[in-house]
Amino acid sequence: MIEIKELRKSFGEKLVLESLSTTFSSGKINLIIGRSGSGKTVAIKSMLGLHSIDSGGIYFDNRNFSVMNDKERKEIRKEIGMVFQGGALFDSMTIEENLSVPLIMFSKKNKSEILDRVNFCLDRVNLVNVNKLFPSDLSGGMQKRVAIARAIVLNPKYLFCDEPNSGLDPYTATIIDELLKEITYEYNITTVINTHDMNSVMQIGDQIIFIKEGKKMWEGHKEEIMNTNNKYLNDFIFSSEIFKRLKKSIS
Ligand SMILES: Nc1ncnc2c1ncn2[C@@H]1O[C@H](COP(=O)(O)OP(=O)(O)OP(=O)(O)O)[C@@H](O)[C@H]1O
Ligand SMILES: [Mg+2]
Repeated sequence: MIEIKELRKSFGEKLVLESLSTTFSSGKINLIIGRSGSGKTVAIKSMLGLHSIDSGGIYFDNRNFSVMNDKERKEIRKEIGMVFQGGALFDSMTIEENLSVPLIMFSKKNKSEILDRVNFCLDRVNLVNVNKLFPSDLSGGMQKRVAIARAIVLNPKYLFCDEPNSGLDPYTATIIDELLKEITYEYNITTVINTHDMNSVMQIGDQIIFIKEGKKMWEGHKEEIMNTNNKYLNDFIFSSEIFKRLKKSIS
């Protein structure tokens, strides 16, 4: 479980997150949704300590990350997996090496144990015979799966994904969503995903917060989202392509 309390972040004069509070549950897909520029990435980066925050608290299972020193934060980071927008794989390393890096850095496993774990994780995301290939040898969807495999090599308690579906076709996006859901449930991970993809919202959103200009405007489940009276959320939902088409087809 991750709790954020009254999170506030500005860059110079520009206030990006304003008093953002919520709880992300373990074993659930927790989505942060909102328009481009609403502050989703800044929210995730704040939780990871990738930049400073103005004020507020970030609690990883009641451990207050915001007051920790670098050494204490490093311990928490070992429990965190991340999948970033571009995949962020190391282009000059093979897939096997890409997955080995976190294990070499943060575990005490020997060479053969590392290889076992790498193969287990690649198998878990349904990738076979890719060990010696480079990221550029793979399709976008396969690269995303490698990024997910790398994010879970250290058995994370927490998984952060920033737009995991960006750049993927709708079918492949569905496969990636399902994979994230399975992994989250199977390993009881607190998964936080940024998205503006309404398909993902309806497919995997266990808990959803909607932010607009850095403020939480709505919070709920995917079953509730279609019946909301919240004007801003409705504007957001019905501006997405899929719902425009749906609306057209029923009118
Ligand atoms: N390092 C920075 N310095 C100044 N402003 C920043 C910085 N990082 C983000 N911002 C601003 O914060 C706001 C929120 O940005 P953020 O990247 O969190 O949006 P987002 O919701 O993730 O959008 P998208 O869906 O396009 O990824 C934007 O106005 C952005 O310009
Ligand atoms: Mg973003």
